[in-house]
Amino acid sequence: MAEGENDLHTGRKTTGHEWNGIKELTTPVPKIVLFFLAVTFLVSLLIWVLAPTWPTGSAYTKGILGIDQRTSLETSLKRSAARTAPWRNEIEQSNFETIAQNTELMKTVRSHGARLFGDNCAMCHGADATGGIGFPSLVDDQWLWGGDPSTIMETLRVGINSTNDDTRISQMIAYGRDGILTLEQRRSVGAYVRSLSQSHEISTADIEKLEAGATIFAQQCASCHGPDGRGMQSVGAPNLTDDHWIYGGGSADIDETLRNGRHGVMPQWEKRTSATDRKILTLYILDLAEGAQ
Ligand code: HEC
Ligand code: HEC
Repeated sequence: MAEGENDLHTGRKTTGHEWNGIKELTTPVPKIVLFFLAVTFLVSLLIWVLAPTWPTGSAYTKGILGIDQRTSLETSLKRSAARTAPWRNEIEQSNFETIAQNTELMKTVRSHGARLFGDNCAMCHGADATGGIGFPSLVDDQWLWGGDPSTIMETLRVGINSTNDDTRISQMIAYGRDGILTLEQRRSVGAYVRSLSQSHEISTADIEKLEAGATIFAQQCASCHGPDGRGMQSVGAPNLTDDHWIYGGGSADIDETLRNGRHGVMPQWEKRTSATDRKILTLYILDLAEGAQ
């Protein structure tokens, strides 16, 4: 077919291509498309000049405006530090009691504390801080290491069995694995431990073991858990007479505790949080605990 032939229906020229009698018209690209193509090209030229664009090996062209992600991040960090400075300073300089009595400041503690707790602590202690198997509740008013604000803040700083040089060290001895107590002795002292908090659930078979259990307890356990089993905060040994358990209070749980010991690990927060954030977290936990009572 001849090139440039006129199409009968539209009057337009054809390209000269033909497939089974179908011919292609030489329709030009619409003007609007060309227009926007030109505009985008000009805009890109402008951006090359104004903003960082081309890599030049180890650096890049900076552009007239000198936009830099690093400096914009620094500015926005500075801006947010300036915004939070007033209440941060107040929290840093006031003691725990003064802050707890300041309703305005406690609003900030609650909102900022909830975020810090959610980001750093909730995966172990639970979103509402009530803990779970292996992770103590922080709102049950039972403290392994002590519940006054400065002690809690110190626990946060150093952690428990952590990598911090000042870490708190918590070690429940593996009486079975280390061959210190026989199975029979562990069962007796286990029954005795359960009788301390759950005397109503002790079976008659267990009652016979209580005397032997009490003797073993006095010899082996009292040095850490106290003669009456109420725990000792200087070594992080839990109170065994209440009904709050880290690892469970059933006979199988206590058997496991006595056989293999326990060695709970709480990370240190000295390197990952500021002292102000640890103060906020302490106030936040105590506030939650108060609400939970
Ligand atoms: C990796 C899990 C984990 C994370 C994350 C964690 N904890 Fe802990 N935390 C523990 C364990 C386990 C213990 C108990 C250790 C033990 O058995 O002696 C503990 C103990 C504590 C104690 C001591 C409680 C007492 O009775 O004395 C406090 C307070 C505490 N955590 C607060 C926090 C806060 C606040 C955060 C977040 C900044 C946090 N924890 C993050 C695992 C964790
Ligand atoms: C060296 C000190 C030490 C001695 C001795 C010791 N305990 Fe413990 N015990 C601990 C500590 C510390 C914990 C907490 C461990 C943790 O949370 O990781 C613990 C935890 C426990 C628990 C778990 C409590 C819970 O809430 O789940 C039980 C039960 C227990 N001890 C019973 C005993 C018995 C019975 C004896 C004596 C046969 C004994 N302990 C001797 C330090 C000791």
